[in-house]
Amino acid sequence: MAAIMPNFGLRQLPLLNKFRSTLPTSPAPSLYLYRSSSSMSLPVAVSSNVSSSSNEDSEEPKLNTGTLSITIEEPDNRNKNKKAKPFFPKRGETLELVCESLAFKGKGLCKVEETGYIVMCDRALPGERFVGRVTRKKNNYAEVTKVKTLSPHTDMVEAPCEYALHCGGCRTQNLLYEAQVRAKEEQVRDLVVHVGKFSYKDPDFNNMMKPIVPCDMQFHYRNKMEFSFGPKRWLPKEQLLERSEDANVYALGLHAPGFFDKVLNVDKCFLQSEPANKVLAAVQDCWRNHELGLSPYDCHSHDGFMKHLMIRSGRDVDTKLPQLMVNFVTSSYKPELLKPLVDKLSVFPEVVSIMNNVNTAVGNTSVGEQEYTLYGKATITEMLRGLSFEISANSFFQTNAHQAEILYKLVEDCAGLKGDGSEIVLDLFCGTGTIGLTLAKKVKHVYGYEVVAEAVSDARRNAKLNGLHNATFIQGDLNKVSESFGNDFPKPDIVISDPNRPGMHNNLIKFLLKLKAPKIVYVSCNPATCARDLDYLCHGSVEQKLNGCYTLKSIQPVDMFPHTPHIECVCLLELR
Ligand SMILES: C[S@@+](CC[C@H](N)C(=O)[O-])C[C@H]1O[C@@H](n2cnc3c(N)ncnc32)[C@H](O)[C@@H]1O
Repeated sequence: MAAIMPNFGLRQLPLLNKFRSTLPTSPAPSLYLYRSSSSMSLPVAVSSNVSSSSNEDSEEPKLNTGTLSITIEEPDNRNKNKKAKPFFPKRGETLELVCESLAFKGKGLCKVEETGYIVMCDRALPGERFVGRVTRKKNNYAEVTKVKTLSPHTDMVEAPCEYALHCGGCRTQNLLYEAQVRAKEEQVRDLVVHVGKFSYKDPDFNNMMKPIVPCDMQFHYRNKMEFSFGPKRWLPKEQLLERSEDANVYALGLHAPGFFDKVLNVDKCFLQSEPANKVLAAVQDCWRNHELGLSPYDCHSHDGFMKHLMIRSGRDVDTKLPQLMVNFVTSSYKPELLKPLVDKLSVFPEVVSIMNNVNTAVGNTSVGEQEYTLYGKATITEMLRGLSFEISANSFFQTNAHQAEILYKLVEDCAGLKGDGSEIVLDLFCGTGTIGLTLAKKVKHVYGYEVVAEAVSDARRNAKLNGLHNATFIQGDLNKVSESFGNDFPKPDIVISDPNRPGMHNNLIKFLLKLKAPKIVYVSCNPATCARDLDYLCHGSVEQKLNGCYTLKSIQPVDMFPHTPHIECVCLLELR
């Protein structure tokens, strides 16, 4: 492709901290970010945290980690005459707080009584009264850690997983699922208003905001988990005394929240399938045996062999039986050291592939410079909307395949295809081509663009595998589209855009506003950047020299990842 060049460069998100929102006249839902002072700024964008062992999606290339701020204004005249009292918390100070809503990264948002001062607390749940200790102070808000719960949220439930309170994976397992999705839906609504600048007063607003689609499979939904090896186990403070002897034992598990170098040993994960848990248990059972000579990689000294254990789940397309791929990421190529593990795992009927990615770099990534097949095939298969997909160790594939069926159906509904095979679809950020290919049978041609070369080859292979000859996949960096990009394909009737968390680059937004396709279906895994991009596409921006020319017809949140802060949205935009 001549017009765009592959590149993984950084870009900065614009700072949106000076906008005035339109606020509701009707009684406000409890989770709006109101405060009694005149305005404030909060961080709302989730940075592309690519921790290899958290349950957050790590398939995306390392792009920017920008912060997007929003300013929130008083909603009505309720507190007109109330002046905010200045408040200056000190580090280490304890505060009694009530959590009002879930916000940025699923953190609990609280206000200091009488002052409206905003405080964020990890793992505080809406409605919970607690004591928090100030750990960090920012310009307009502070962060606290929870010291003690005084009265729990009424929607508090017992988390089924023993690691839930300490693991960097699930954050809200102890919140009733219905309350989780309600909080996510309200977060999207807030962002659409405060960042997207859509108005509650617009008579179409309630029609446009679709209710969240919950996930009917709340556990065992992830088809890919990455566990890390470490020389020591990380133990939460309260367990340090009684389990001090455990601290020096090798660890295999998930990262402690916010720490790339601390591994919480995990014997079972409620997010992955039962067969995948059997594989994890089998590895845990033997890898510390000294006779095997397997050492965990130490990310400080850079010594050690075992870096990560990745387990991917799929299904046999004929029998529909589960298939597993086990991928050992190691610091060097020593297949003889892995042989006992391979012998042990290859007896599991579900294990059809055992891979070894060799990664000699010092970073935390699990993608190897070389990849070896130690047992069976180099790929597993999965099905989505009647098509089969081959998945290799490092290719992107929707991590909740069950809910991806629903997500893709929503995309197809938004696309509103005529079904006469006349339309052109432009599938931007196409990954392994899954969205475009599921539409291909009904359209004339699909053009897919994606930066990762392996994903593009997977997309081409997947097209062939499904006998689809009307799909062209091209590698390129969509952050670098030039004026001539549109010469590379016929004018599309429908654009699908599914960027990762940083959202769309201004160059691409400019291009889309010039292209003027009748419909854009925007699929987003970050409602904050999604709201920003919707604002540009619909309202434009004088500063950015963008002339918005789309109408937002619908925005539908979808819960792809129960118990985590992640929210997916499908939006339909139509050309005015
Ligand atoms: C959220 S995934 C969506 C993949 C696909 N649509 C699907 O549903 O499986 C985003 C994709 O965008 C790709 N990507 C990220 N930055 C990109 C860029 N600057 N140019 C092109 N593709 C990019 C990633 O590699 C990833 O495959």
